[in-house]
Amino acid sequence: MTIAEEIREWKRKKDAVILAHYYVPGEVQEIADDIGDSYYLSKAAVSRKERVLVFCGVSFMGESAKILNPDKTVLMPDRRADCAMAHMADRETIQKMRDRYEDLAVVCYINSTAELKQYSDVCVTSANAVDIVRALPNKRIFFIPDRNLAHYVAEQVPEKQFLYNEGFCPIHERMLPGEVERLKAQHPDAKILVHPECPEQIRKMADHIGSTSGIIKYVGKSADSEFIICTEEGVRYELEKNAPGKQFYFTETLPVCRDMKLVTLEKILHVLKTGENEVVLPEEMIKACEKPLKRMLELGR
Ligand code: 13P
Ligand code: SF4
Repeated sequence: MTIAEEIREWKRKKDAVILAHYYVPGEVQEIADDIGDSYYLSKAAVSRKERVLVFCGVSFMGESAKILNPDKTVLMPDRRADCAMAHMADRETIQKMRDRYEDLAVVCYINSTAELKQYSDVCVTSANAVDIVRALPNKRIFFIPDRNLAHYVAEQVPEKQFLYNEGFCPIHERMLPGEVERLKAQHPDAKILVHPECPEQIRKMADHIGSTSGIIKYVGKSADSEFIICTEEGVRYELEKNAPGKQFYFTETLPVCRDMKLVTLEKILHVLKTGENEVVLPEEMIKACEKPLKRMLELGR
């Protein structure tokens, strides 16, 4: 029996479903029941009927799935898989901002710990941040933790006043403008597609800025056949599956999120068999985080 067949059998036995982000290794995406960006996966976690969710991603994703489904069991193939940016804000600064400004909305990127979400008014993902911020009644926005996404949203919603936090994704932050320019010089017809976690210098070069699924959709609809992709290299799997024959170029310093790559088929099988690495959160924390996450799902509808 292959490992994929074993996983299938254990999924049946445990009434489990496998959800995977586009950044996990290709062989994991291949056996997943649902693959998507952070927004899609949070909706999929709610709509799936299975009792057990195996979340192939990093810890904030597993936590969000648990908060939205407190009665389901959420298993992480590797409990060390974490997002560095998720920790780059703090409760004291949020409180200081709330004390200083009336009519403030604390907008929390879903790439954040549950600890941070509980002090926030609404969550967003890169796919819905612009629409949700625009729809908020508040004029002043404190956007945590990602400053790059915050600046991108602020550019799209100039009628709001933004307060920035100094968080960033180390993988997108380190993308080098010179390497993107070099790729463009080698492939002048290629469209440059950029994730909003990238810094301004990279965003300025973009033909399109979008979430991982936004980038994948853009390629699917585009008449162009060459693309420079400025996000984590795991999206290549879905891009090539969706648009065979099209060419995708990544920067020479390949953007790799090591935490996402901790997810393997062996670890998925192991947690299915043993029930190890279950996401457990205090009940009060689940209740406090439910509000900003559910508000995101309602406003994003
Ligand atoms: P999206 O999948 O929402 O575009 O987010 C990218 C990301 O960094 C997930 O960790
Ligand atoms: Fe976090 Fe960046 Fe990895 Fe996404 S790619 S999980 S934002 S560290």
